[in-house]
Amino acid sequence: MANEANNFQELISHCKEYGYIFQSSEIYDGLAAVYDYGQNGAQLKKNIRDYWWKSMTQLHDNIVGIDAAIFMHPTTWKASGHVDNFSDPMIDNKDSNKRYRVDHLIEGFAETLPENDAKRLLEDMDALLAKDDYAGLKELIDDNKIKCAISKTSNWTDVRQFNLMFSTEFGAVASDNPDDNKVYLRPETAQGIFVNFLNVQKTGRMKIPFGIAQTGKAFRNEIVARQFIFRMREFEQMEMQFFIRPGSQMEWYKFWSEERKKWHQSLGIPAEKLRFHDHVKLAHYADAAMDIEFEFPFGWKELEGIHSRTDFDLKQHQEYSKKKIQYFDNDLDPDTNKPYGNYTPYVVETSVGLDRLFLTIISLAYNEEKWLKEDGTEDSRVVLKIPAKIAPTKLAILPLLKKDGLPEIAKELMDECKSSFMCFYEEKDAIGKRYRRMDAIGTPFCVTIDHQTKEDNTVTIRYRDTMVQERIALSEVKNLVLQKIN
Ligand code: GAP
Repeated sequence: MANEANNFQELISHCKEYGYIFQSSEIYDGLAAVYDYGQNGAQLKKNIRDYWWKSMTQLHDNIVGIDAAIFMHPTTWKASGHVDNFSDPMIDNKDSNKRYRVDHLIEGFAETLPENDAKRLLEDMDALLAKDDYAGLKELIDDNKIKCAISKTSNWTDVRQFNLMFSTEFGAVASDNPDDNKVYLRPETAQGIFVNFLNVQKTGRMKIPFGIAQTGKAFRNEIVARQFIFRMREFEQMEMQFFIRPGSQMEWYKFWSEERKKWHQSLGIPAEKLRFHDHVKLAHYADAAMDIEFEFPFGWKELEGIHSRTDFDLKQHQEYSKKKIQYFDNDLDPDTNKPYGNYTPYVVETSVGLDRLFLTIISLAYNEEKWLKEDGTEDSRVVLKIPAKIAPTKLAILPLLKKDGLPEIAKELMDECKSSFMCFYEEKDAIGKRYRRMDAIGTPFCVTIDHQTKEDNTVTIRYRDTMVQERIALSEVKNLVLQKIN
């Protein structure tokens, strides 16, 4: 596990070297906090997304999925509160002109302090953030003589709010007022679900409680974007809004927080690396909120948010659109023995960042291993122990030699398997070198075709995690892999 800072740099280099993640527009020196996924990264990301989608929309019979557009009517973001509230307190250093998110600046400083002092400082910060006390936050920064990493001075501006939404112009019509054509790049996918609540409820004849799930890109003009793909300006979310009866929100909030933690564990994330963290300062739409945190190589950080969003969003869209957004519940209320009737549903939201989950999985998978061979010399490898069910390539098919009919047998196996799962064919280099490459990419199974295959139709299968090799029938390969990945 890459849980040490120095290993984290190695993990980042590994992701680049093996086609997982590249810096965006690297040939132009990159774009800060924007990343591209390479051939293996894109496949791993898709596998994680598909796993989430399946568990939400196929394994829960009361959750359906949609795919809303990134562009939305600009009033959406007025109604949701993002135009007025989606901002973070920032501070600028007057000497370097560098802008910091106040919580990140203080958290960074806390990391340099002894544990108890750090704890006290962070508690003070949380209390001030909860009260939106910007003067108090400035005082805290001044009192602790926190310095800018670039100028090394404590010459700070006041603390100010900074909106995180990106905007652009829509259509080609020129206007004197640039705001006329202004649209935002969505900062969360959730609003695409809220504005489609009635469409889905009516066309799908959905009965409360039910959920609407969605995956897609979101954009935030993060000021301090750091730690690789942990905090990006363009990222992907996997969100589910669960519509419920008013008053039942705490029950469902508890249910979904437990359910989501278990789901992360089903991806091989150990329970001791996950924890709940209740929000001190609630977002403008929430009456309860928590993070599921993971112990990343750089410390405990948010992986997923669970939010009880009340009826805030649907009511706001009702008010701004002037369209009635309600649900008629004809189930009987046991207290009155009458139907619950018309109401605006409450919502519990689960919201996980796909890129953050990718980082979780790859940092757990990354292992540098060393051992002594029988002759006493040292051997080593770097291996990505990605769970087989989401690994980008499941099976490598490797003819021992490029001749004697071995490639032909290998290609037949490839044809047999490739419609069922991702396979990779490789005939170059010594077999040991090819195994190491597959370890580094994270391919869980390698099959070698050799001269014995021609005699008895058996092959060597090698398991990535244990490096154990065994002989099995060629005809069994496909079923064995299918069994392991399902
Ligand atoms: N709809 C609710 C919402 O967006 P959030 O806590 O702001 O809540 C949810 O975001 C999740 O999205 C986070 O837990 C995180 O995994 C991911 N996320 C948020 N900002 C991100 C960023 N800048 N880069 C990568 N992932 C991010």
